[in-house]
Amino acid sequence: MIFDDLRAIQAHYGYLPGEQLESLSKRTNIPLYRIHGVADFYPHFHLKPPPKVNIRVCTDMSCHLRGADALETGLKHRFQGMSSGDLFIGECSCLGQCDGAPAISINDHYYRSMTEAEAEALVLTALGGGDLPHLAAQTTTQPLASDPYAGGEKYGALRRLIQTRDWDGTIAQLKASGLPGLGGAGFVTGMKWELVRKAHGDEKYVVCNADESEPGTIKDRFILENLPNLVIEGMIIAAVVTGAQKGFLYIRHEYQAQEHILQHEIDECYREGLLGPSILGSDLGFELEIFVSPGGYICGEESALIEAIEGKRAEPRNKPPFPVTHGVFNKPTALNNVETFANVPQILVNGVDWYKAQGQGGAAGLKFVGVSGDVEAPGIFEIPMGLPMSEVIYNYAGGMVGGKALKAFAPSGPSSGYLPASKVDVHLDFKSLAAEGSMLGSGAIVVCAEGRCMLDMALNAVRFFRNESCGKCVPCRMGSQKMVDILTAWTHGKGTTADLELIDELTEALKLTSICGLGQFAHSPLSSVLLHFRDEVEAHITHKHCPEGVCPMREERAV
Ligand SMILES: Cc1cc2nc3c(=O)[nH]c(=O)nc-3n(C[C@H](O)[C@H](O)[C@H](O)COP(=O)(O)O)c2cc1C
Ligand code: SF4
Ligand code: FES
Repeated sequence: MIFDDLRAIQAHYGYLPGEQLESLSKRTNIPLYRIHGVADFYPHFHLKPPPKVNIRVCTDMSCHLRGADALETGLKHRFQGMSSGDLFIGECSCLGQCDGAPAISINDHYYRSMTEAEAEALVLTALGGGDLPHLAAQTTTQPLASDPYAGGEKYGALRRLIQTRDWDGTIAQLKASGLPGLGGAGFVTGMKWELVRKAHGDEKYVVCNADESEPGTIKDRFILENLPNLVIEGMIIAAVVTGAQKGFLYIRHEYQAQEHILQHEIDECYREGLLGPSILGSDLGFELEIFVSPGGYICGEESALIEAIEGKRAEPRNKPPFPVTHGVFNKPTALNNVETFANVPQILVNGVDWYKAQGQGGAAGLKFVGVSGDVEAPGIFEIPMGLPMSEVIYNYAGGMVGGKALKAFAPSGPSSGYLPASKVDVHLDFKSLAAEGSMLGSGAIVVCAEGRCMLDMALNAVRFFRNESCGKCVPCRMGSQKMVDILTAWTHGKGTTADLELIDELTEALKLTSICGLGQFAHSPLSSVLLHFRDEVEAHITHKHCPEGVCPMREERAV
């Protein structure tokens, strides 16, 4: 596997020296241009020697709201004058610690809720050659209603299924529950598994998508930490039901603590005969391995993720065909989100009626949501699907920070766009949020208090898409950059009303011609702000004035 080789070289040299890539090419018969193309694509690989201390401050939505910019500026000021070989301070995309914002990384070690003094102490340790501490998992002692085994024997649904071999009945039960895919798209899981089961061929795969890299999205991290057995059980059940023999649990590389927890659980499953060539002594086998992502938000898009597993650049494929028939190595593949898999044993143990009764107002099931930004108690919460947003913000997340008024919230990170405070009673389910022109997505709630400039928040979110565009299609690659340029100009008092027409054209082009969801939704933060906060945006363009006093406006900065 090309990534294993690249990782081994990087572990030894600290980066990927050209001559090592050449000798890898000779050894493996993989053309050098292909090795280079892969190494160059992923942020995790370095083609040049990195500085001794590489500091990255996450500046995406949740961290932007909780002081990331000041932290970055403060650290740059504190360490100014140091040589670039010794120290580099830059920005990075969401690190999956949005409830502990601002988050930073130092030499691939991750830290939450950083103050400048804490970050400085860690940097000094790294500069002095000391060992940096690893971030521990945030496990909870709270009982979780999602756990059907609480305290009892685990893997009960799987044990029963191996005895009954009722594959069709399992799919029927999942379909009856209506369990939607919880990675964002909401495709009915029972239908997906049925398509894989019916797909021709003996070689099939199960893949769990634990890439979770969109700002605000942290709920899978919590599930991996606290209910890893349910995720693995869901994957094994998917395998026996669809006829797959091999599985990959694809996890973002920043989730090191979670990876260890999962590996421990997988090892235990092998010891207990729940994984391996003969599950519980049956004629059914399933091998499961963890695949650590080499990085990048685009890797979460299912076909890009599959390309990465195949050792290629994570560029999304044109669809159709879909992974259910043409997935890993073009074989039928059941690919689901962490939370989707974790729901399967719940439904099989507790029943469809129980599952439906967990939701509210016609919605079914429980939902994990992450809440970050301007709330008193950011965190990950288990809620009934269909709960009003107001309850989540005020009862679960401790209310608004410092007792401020709510101004806006993103129900699911940048993709969902922002809704105004007047919509705070919207119910958290697929239908209700779609009716408001937003989406439930991955349950990544980011909250903005009074005083926040919504143009600034739109720019921050569009910049994330620009940074993470894989570059495969021109409209997304160029269009997201153009959008950032225009919004940056607006925040500097350099906009004209003609820009608004250009933005409409760009939005249409992105929606219609982008291959994947990243490009298709890159306009959402801006579109939503133009819809709900148009006066505020127009004040920047027409009056060269930021009503909240947040944007740099006339400050002479490079645009
Ligand atoms: C740019 C992009 C990033 C995505 N990231 C994730 C992710 O991190 N986790 C995830 O489960 N789904 C992600 N998705 C959705 C997946 O493509 C896919 O729909 C999902 O994993 C299917 O699982 P589900 O049916 O259980 O939701 C992403 C989609 C796009 C377009
Ligand atoms: S829409 Fe953007 S991220 Fe998606 S394939 Fe095209 S360039 Fe890549
Ligand atoms: S860790 Fe910074 S936005 Fe997620």
